[in-house]
Amino acid sequence: MFNKEGVPFFIIMFPFLCLIFFSFFTASYYLKLSEEVSTSTQMIYKQKNLSQENINQRIEQIHIQKKEQFINYLWIITLSVLVFMLLFSLVMNNIVHDIIKRYKEKVHAKEDSLRELNRTLTFQVAEGIKKGKEKDKTILRESRLAILGSMLSMIAHQWRQPLSELSGILMQIEIATRFKKLTNEKLFSSLERSNERIEYMSNTIDDFRHFYKPDKKKELFWLGEACQKALNLINAALINADIRVVTRIKKDEQFMGYPSEFAQAILNILSNAKDVLVDRKIENPTITLSLNTTDTHIVVVIQDNGGGIEETSMDNIFDPYFSTKDASKGTGLGLYIAQIIIEKNLGAKLLVSNGDFGAVFTIVFERIEDECNFS
Ligand SMILES: Nc1ncnc2c1ncn2[C@@H]1O[C@H](COP(=O)(O)OP(=O)(O)OP(=O)(O)O)[C@@H](O)[C@H]1O
Ligand SMILES: [Mg+2]
Repeated sequence: MFNKEGVPFFIIMFPFLCLIFFSFFTASYYLKLSEEVSTSTQMIYKQKNLSQENINQRIEQIHIQKKEQFINYLWIITLSVLVFMLLFSLVMNNIVHDIIKRYKEKVHAKEDSLRELNRTLTFQVAEGIKKGKEKDKTILRESRLAILGSMLSMIAHQWRQPLSELSGILMQIEIATRFKKLTNEKLFSSLERSNERIEYMSNTIDDFRHFYKPDKKKELFWLGEACQKALNLINAALINADIRVVTRIKKDEQFMGYPSEFAQAILNILSNAKDVLVDRKIENPTITLSLNTTDTHIVVVIQDNGGGIEETSMDNIFDPYFSTKDASKGTGLGLYIAQIIIEKNLGAKLLVSNGDFGAVFTIVFERIEDECNFS
C-alpha cells in the first residue's frame, strides 16, 4: 500500500495511469470520429440527387467538422489533465512535506535520545563497573567463607579421635593416681602419647589450612609408614575395644603426595571399621590392612569383619554429611574427606565393596616411573 518512505503507492502510479487513460480515450475518440466520418460519407453517397461537386463539398465539410471536434476534445482533455496534474502536484507537495516533517521529527527524537544516552552512558558504565566489582568481592567472600566453614568442619572431624584418646590418657593417669599406682615410667609414657596426639592435632590444622591450595608442595613418602602412623593414632581405641589389627606389608612403597593428608584418610577408614565392630558387637573383631604392588599399581586394602555396609547406603557413603550413626556419634564427613584426599589431592582411586565378612576399602595408586625408581 505504501513504499518504505510512507508515500502511498497509488500516488506514484497515478501519472502513469493518467497517461494510459489519456492515450486510450484519445485513440477511442479518434476511432469513433473516423467511424462517424465514414457513416456520414456513405449516407452522402446514398443521396442520389447530389452532384459530384456537392458530394465532395459535403465530405470536405464533414472532415473539417470532425477535425474541429477532435481538436476541441484534445483541448478539453489536455486542460483537464493539466488541472488534474496541478492538483495532484499540490497533493504530492503536501504529502512530501508531511513525510519530510515526520522524518525530521524522528531524527530529532533520535538525536535527543542519543544525546541523553551519551550523557548517562559514562555514569552507567562507571556504576556497572562498581557493581561488578562489589559482586566479585561478595562472591569471593562467600566462597572463602564456604571454604573456611568446610575447613573447620574437617578439622573438628579429625580432632574427635585424638581428643577422645587424650581424654582416655588423662583418665588413666587419674585412676593410677587415685590408686597410688602412677609410676614415673607410666607418667612419662602417658605424656609422650599425649604429646603425639597434640602434635597430630596441630598438624591437622596445617593439613586442612592448605587443603584446597592447588600449589602446595608434594613430597615423596612411604605409603606403609603413613598407614602405620594412622594406626598408631587409633591404636589405644582399638586395644580398648579388643580389636585385632593385621598388617600385611611385604614391601613398603613410595609415592609423591601429601603424607599427613593420606594418614588422615586412612584414619577415617580405620575409625569407621572400629565403630562398626564395636556397634555391632562383632566376635573376634579384626581389621586387616595390606599393601600390595603390581608392575603398574600400588594397592592399599583395608577390610574388617563387621558385616559390611548396608546395601541401601552403598551409593551415598561418600556424600558429605551422610551417616547412619547417631548425630552425637557421626557427622558423615569421614569418607567424604577420605575421598577428596585420595582422589582429588593424591590422584588415586578409592573403591568400596562388601567382602565375605565386612566392608573392603581399596586405594589404587598408579605407579609413576620416577616413583618406581625411588623404591
Ligand atoms: N567399615 C564400614 N562398615 C560398615 N559401614 C560403614 C563402614 N564405613 C563406613 N560405613 C558407613 O558409611 C557411612 C558414612 O561414613 P562416614 O565416615 O562418612 O561418616 P560417619 O562415620 O557416619 O560419621 P563421622 O565419620 O563423621 O564420624 C557410615 O555412617 C556407615 O553407615
Ligand atoms: Mg566416619
